[in-house]
Amino acid sequence: MIISSTKDYRKAAQRRLPPFLFHYIDGGAYDEATLRNNVDDLSKIALRQRILKNMSDLTTSTELFGEKLSMPLALAPVGLTGMYAKRGEVQAAKAADKKGIPFTLSTVSVCPIEEVTPAINRPMWFQLYVLRDRGFMKNVLERAKAAGCSTLVFTVDMPVPGARYRDAHSGMSGPNAAMRRYLQSTLYPHWAWNVGIHGKPHDLGNISRYLGKPTGLEDYIGWLGANFDPSISWKDLQWIRDFWEGPMVIKGILDPEDARDAVAFGADGIVVSNHGGRQLDGVLSSAAAMPAIADAVKGKIKILADSGVRSGLDIVRMLALGADACLIGRAFAYALAAQGQAGVENLLDLMMKEMRVAMTLTGVKSVAEISGECLVRAEKEL
Ligand code: FNR
Repeated sequence: MIISSTKDYRKAAQRRLPPFLFHYIDGGAYDEATLRNNVDDLSKIALRQRILKNMSDLTTSTELFGEKLSMPLALAPVGLTGMYAKRGEVQAAKAADKKGIPFTLSTVSVCPIEEVTPAINRPMWFQLYVLRDRGFMKNVLERAKAAGCSTLVFTVDMPVPGARYRDAHSGMSGPNAAMRRYLQSTLYPHWAWNVGIHGKPHDLGNISRYLGKPTGLEDYIGWLGANFDPSISWKDLQWIRDFWEGPMVIKGILDPEDARDAVAFGADGIVVSNHGGRQLDGVLSSAAAMPAIADAVKGKIKILADSGVRSGLDIVRMLALGADACLIGRAFAYALAAQGQAGVENLLDLMMKEMRVAMTLTGVKSVAEISGECLVRAEKEL
């Protein structure tokens, strides 16, 4: 199969993964309207084509939180990445490292923090959820600090788990009989062998290290459901701000008021995100939310954005709308499932090329030059 885009990787991932995992990655909340809008709204952003501006010395490199990036992109935290390929977090982190961008380890990763950081040369980013068990939060924060993680990505758009119909059908949201059947079935021997899961519960590294016993995938939804904390507010975050000396990024912001609150709180960055359409269906796409947020806080805080980014062209669009950098979730998860580390490296190469083409044809030579000027006027407000 010829692979030249994220769409191709999606198809390849679907062939390779058991359905419960493919749909877990691919799906969104409720009727998936926000999931669709994330991609559609971004694709409708019209760029201004510019010509004959001698673009020979163009560069996609940039700096973020004192780190050099080959392009304004990081891998988003994606739970269960180690189930899409063997020791998947390590493979994805190595690919990001090789291509010069940050990798973010999810709280709910298969490989624990301590397994991933020694495998890469650049500092890892670590993502934390708001959980009832503050002992767990403290434990992983201490471990992330000890392991030399640079940036903390604090995800705030999951005080409750979203309703995901696809997961209900596939067995991913429990009761978990269907999932157990997949884990023990011989229907996907290649996947089971590749991921090293066959016949065994799969271990969620960060959680099991804290609990002192293995946690299988069967426990995943139950643990998550029991642990998300709807009582959280800004003042509860102060101890984390005090504890974490490095950059702290608040992930899951869609409203300019919340973006202003993040600045007032003292965050170093925000991620404009609707969790890839996986939480509240019906909220704005990130592309649609971006202009008002950029108006409110651009220059006061770093604005990262995700949800719907599928190509280098999309990165340029998101930056033109006001972001300083983007994250990708599904795109790299598909590539990892399809071809492991090599797939993620190839995807990042594709995105870099697409970015260069988009910059050349919009007449911008550096990331700093990408602005609203790259957009056709009417498109600035969706
Ligand atoms: C996620 N996302 C996510 N976010 C987070 O903060 N912690 C997590 O553990 C996860 N887990 C997760 C699993 C899967 C399968 C997906 C697809 C997403 C959200 C993720 O970080 C990011 O916000 C979205 O994936 C961005 O949207 P796109 O790039 O998938 O459109």
